[in-house]
Amino acid sequence: MRRGVAAALRLARSARLGACLGARLGARLGAPPGAPLGAFIGALIAVCATNARAGDYHADTSLRCSDCHVMHFSQSHGYGPNGSGVVRSLGFQAEPGLLRASVNDLCTSCHDGDVLATDVLDQENTGSQLGIVRTAGYLARDGFSSGQHGGHRLDSFDVAPGSNPSWSAASENRPGVGLTCVNCHDPHGAVGNNHPTGSQYRNLRSDPGFSSGRWVTYNATPGANDLTRDVFVRQARSYDESQMDWNEPDSQRSAIARWCLGCHTDMHSDSGFTVFASASSTKSATTALDEHPYEDEDLEDEMITQINSLGNRVKVLSSFGIWSPIGSDATPTCVTCHRAHGNGNPYGLIYRSGTGIPTENGDTNGTSVTDLCNQCHPGGSPFTH
Ligand code: HEC
Ligand code: HEC
Ligand code: HEC
Ligand code: HEC
Ligand code: HEC
Ligand code: HEC
Repeated sequence: MRRGVAAALRLARSARLGACLGARLGARLGAPPGAPLGAFIGALIAVCATNARAGDYHADTSLRCSDCHVMHFSQSHGYGPNGSGVVRSLGFQAEPGLLRASVNDLCTSCHDGDVLATDVLDQENTGSQLGIVRTAGYLARDGFSSGQHGGHRLDSFDVAPGSNPSWSAASENRPGVGLTCVNCHDPHGAVGNNHPTGSQYRNLRSDPGFSSGRWVTYNATPGANDLTRDVFVRQARSYDESQMDWNEPDSQRSAIARWCLGCHTDMHSDSGFTVFASASSTKSATTALDEHPYEDEDLEDEMITQINSLGNRVKVLSSFGIWSPIGSDATPTCVTCHRAHGNGNPYGLIYRSGTGIPTENGDTNGTSVTDLCNQCHPGGSPFTH
């Protein structure tokens, strides 16, 4: 679905009206308490009243109810003067929560092939930010996507590898609804109680899987990195990987790793003697095993020399906020090796040789997982470290 820039601008203007419009409307309707509509309106007011503040969009003034909700599932014209403005498409059937369409259809109506927003689905990027190397890579969708893909697939009912207790979309969603955007992102940019800064990176849920309190803090003040926050966003609403980096406010923790582990509980775990046990296999060990570090362990000297010899590098955590050159404070984490949404490689791994032009799959010279390992572990034979 492609629309002209002018149409997108019109939408942006008319949708500004939408913030909390639903709530005001609802209050006027005065639905009886207890009725489903009444409950919905009560919650509407709660959403408006709490000072929701999360990522750089779908929060505060950019949380426009009418982007995603429709009151009567029959909207015939826009919210602009004389009914102008774009009407976002409606799904095939009315949805719970007065959504315009089912969650994945709704989110991808803007986030796939629309100039208004970043395109997060499939390799082809025809969204607002053409040609960028999307930090999260891209998702696939069961039954829709045909290209090679590793990483997360929307609509999937598979169990999250390493989850304990076992987690799949069926643990959380309505029957028949597979993995959706809102299993990972909060649609309202709500951060929950006790958030340390009140703003969560990319509107990530603070309770993925069966977890809670998985804060990923960030700051997006141009030019100023706050080392007490987990992410340094160089420019708000700009998703090229060069626009962000990972801080390390606590040298023993990785906030993003703890977030992923909300679902992948035991994956690459160093929690003693459990080896990752998938739903289909139950491998276990009786002695403590080394697992690849995703927090706490810093790069060793020869790794630092190795990675600094490369022209483009995978992302590492840095407690000093210095990624070039990478120093002895650097630590690998999940998104060092995996794109969060996925890419064209198995497991969404980043095959980055360090010598090519950066891509979502790694770089133009990267061909295998060894390129990833060689970012830090000097290559050749024997594999020295
Ligand atoms: C009406 C269009 C529209 C719809 C529908 C929509 N989005 Fe967005 N979204 C945007 C725009 C615009 C931005 C900011 C600019 C960009 O993406 O280039 C954005 C940004 C985001 C961001 C990044 C926020 C940040 O901190 O930078 C996330 C995450 C996101 N959307 C998730 C979702 C999810 C989940 C849904 C479905 C529940 C959804 N969006 C539905 C238009 C939309
Ligand atoms: C980016 C899309 C998006 C926007 C914008 C949005 N919502 Fe929602 N809303 C959703 C989704 C998706 C759900 C269903 C969540 C789920 O299934 O867990 C939802 C659910 C709700 C619910 C049901 C209770 C709940 O929290 O699950 C209420 C009430 C609500 N929204 C009100 C609002 C109001 C009021 C606004 C504007 C201030 C708004 N929403 C803006 C996507 C959005
Ligand atoms: C809300 C739960 C949830 C969260 C949070 C989550 N995952 Fe997953 N993950 C899943 C599920 C479910 C699957 C299996 C279905 C699929 O492939 O989408 C999966 C599969 C994977 C796979 C295997 C993909 C393949 O190609 O076989 C990788 C790798 C992965 N996740 C990495 C991550 C990383 C890294 C993070 C954090 C950035 C993360 N996950 C966060 C639920 C989650
Ligand atoms: C398995 C969890 C997961 C699912 C499912 C998921 N996201 Fe994300 N998303 C993330 C994480 C984690 C990041 C931040 C990645 C990073 O910075 O390395 C992210 C980043 C983003 C961004 C910023 C762009 C970028 O490349 O960093 C947008 C926009 C976004 N997601 C929208 C969506 C939408 C829309 C959907 C559904 C169509 C969705 N996400 C599904 C976990 C998820
Ligand atoms: C040093 C690179 C590296 C880091 C760091 C890393 N992974 Fe992986 N991960 C891999 C590789 C390589 C695979 C492919 C299978 C294998 O070798 O076990 C993989 C596989 C996976 C799988 C799929 C397992 C399966 O059997 O389907 C998941 C899920 C996953 N990783 C999640 C994570 C999470 C969550 C983190 C952070 C806590 C993380 N990874 C950190 C390299 C890494
Ligand atoms: C960003 C840097 C980085 C990347 C990329 C990386 N590693 Fe590592 N690796 C480390 C660090 C740091 C350690 C911990 C060193 C220590 O303190 O012992 C480590 C340790 C290891 C160990 C020893 C584990 C142990 O505790 O016995 C193995 C084996 C290993 N890595 C294999 C791999 C493989 C295979 C890949 C590619 C899939 C890979 N690494 C990618 C940084 C990296």
